[in-house]
Amino acid sequence: MEMINIALPKGRLGESVYAMFKAVGYACPAIEEENRKLVFENPAAGVRYFWVKPSDVPIYVQRGAADVGVAGKDILLEHGPDVYELADLGVGRCRMCVAAKADFQDDGARTLRVATKFSRIARGYYASLSRDIDVIPLNGSIELAPLLGLSDVIVDIVETGRTLAENGLEVKAEILPVSARLIANKVSYKFKNQAIRQMALRMAENKQQGGAL
Ligand code: PRP
Repeated sequence: MEMINIALPKGRLGESVYAMFKAVGYACPAIEEENRKLVFENPAAGVRYFWVKPSDVPIYVQRGAADVGVAGKDILLEHGPDVYELADLGVGRCRMCVAAKADFQDDGARTLRVATKFSRIARGYYASLSRDIDVIPLNGSIELAPLLGLSDVIVDIVETGRTLAENGLEVKAEILPVSARLIANKVSYKFKNQAIRQMALRMAENKQQGGAL
């Protein structure tokens, strides 16, 4: 049987996405064993899975190292890969937001300092508001930046809101809702068309409806 190579985002999102694949016929018992391997396959089901750093999934898929993959809409918008987006899986729901200290008010007078992992999304959002910004690119613990005076605001994902609340920050504006998407390499989609379309269809049918944000 033809194998489909699947890039899964390492971590909690990847675990729940794998559970969705399993539920619709793409189980891979080896992946459920505790170990540090990164590649798992089940030839009987026609699948080979890779654990990939979440922000790297678009690169694996665009370059064809994986036929399909799962990435958050945030990562897709930030990287803009040339891939097909086949389905919204309804998991990994969160919101891309602007947040700042509760007492912060943008008076529009100075260039706004924005700390973020999502420079492209931040630039696009503020360009749409015609607001000049200075992007401060960071890789994690973004919430620290306004606390230390490194930035005025942050652009980051908010899931439960706990990280903001526990650091005295609050949402000032919502930029867009985020959820996990099934993406496909364009050449793979052509040559493994039936198998990939069947996979996308099954995953979309089993989509997690989730609650309102
Ligand atoms: C993300 C995000 C926030 C947090 C939001 O961080 O950057 O810090 O989750 O979740 P919450 O609203 O449920 O508190 P992540 O765990 O990806 O770590 P990071 O610091 O490396 O960005």
